[in-house]
Amino acid sequence: MAPPRATGRKQPRRLSDVDATVRYKRAAARAASEMVHEGMRLGLGTGSTVAQLLPALAARELHDLTCVATSPATERAARGLGLTVRSLDDVGELDMAIDGADQVDPQGWLVKGGGAAHTREKIVAAAARQFVVIASEEKAVPQLQPPVPLELIRFGAHMTLARLGQARLRDGVQASPDGGLIADYLGSIGEPRELAARLEATPGVVEHGLFAPEMVAVILIAGEAGVERRAGGAGG
Ligand code: 5RP
Repeated sequence: MAPPRATGRKQPRRLSDVDATVRYKRAAARAASEMVHEGMRLGLGTGSTVAQLLPALAARELHDLTCVATSPATERAARGLGLTVRSLDDVGELDMAIDGADQVDPQGWLVKGGGAAHTREKIVAAAARQFVVIASEEKAVPQLQPPVPLELIRFGAHMTLARLGQARLRDGVQASPDGGLIADYLGSIGEPRELAARLEATPGVVEHGLFAPEMVAVILIAGEAGVERRAGGAGG
């Protein structure tokens, strides 16, 4: 079996740590599900924390909730639980989007894209009036660490990687559902805003996994002490 992919965050080591992490993800997801109301248009992220959100949302039995999914996996799971899923272009502006993160720093910067869905996730987060992040406590880090996920245009991808330096295609050469190649930037992050600007200015980079604090309304971080609510840079 391939070793787990490095994500920059602390890895839980013991089985009991893994159980605790699942409980924390569930607690953060439940807290977020309580922020969802009848009539909302809701963006759904991707990953194991969002997988805890979907049953919590379904259990709310809201009859007038329209969801937009950021990946085929989330779309399948949401529909399987009876949630209504439509395309972003059909729905338009969203009231809220809820998603996980790989890392959250004290300023509210996020690294996302461990599940290769960061391009769609950023589009959906940007379409939402409120972007709510849910995470277990090991995602809260004092400083962001590489890797930073990337999505690249296929054409000239090796030239794009060479221009970036310290970047490589993700093992198994993963592609996004939109046909982009998934890669990771492995150089040091330093000041996230500067790296974000550099990545955005590199031809061939479709999107990167750095999410700025001003995109985020609320961050819900769950641990043994309960769910901590941090206001994001967008206020919340
Ligand atoms: C997918 C993502 C996920 O939100 C991120 O990887 C966190 O995943 P998980 O909830 O499984 O820890 O950005 O592209």
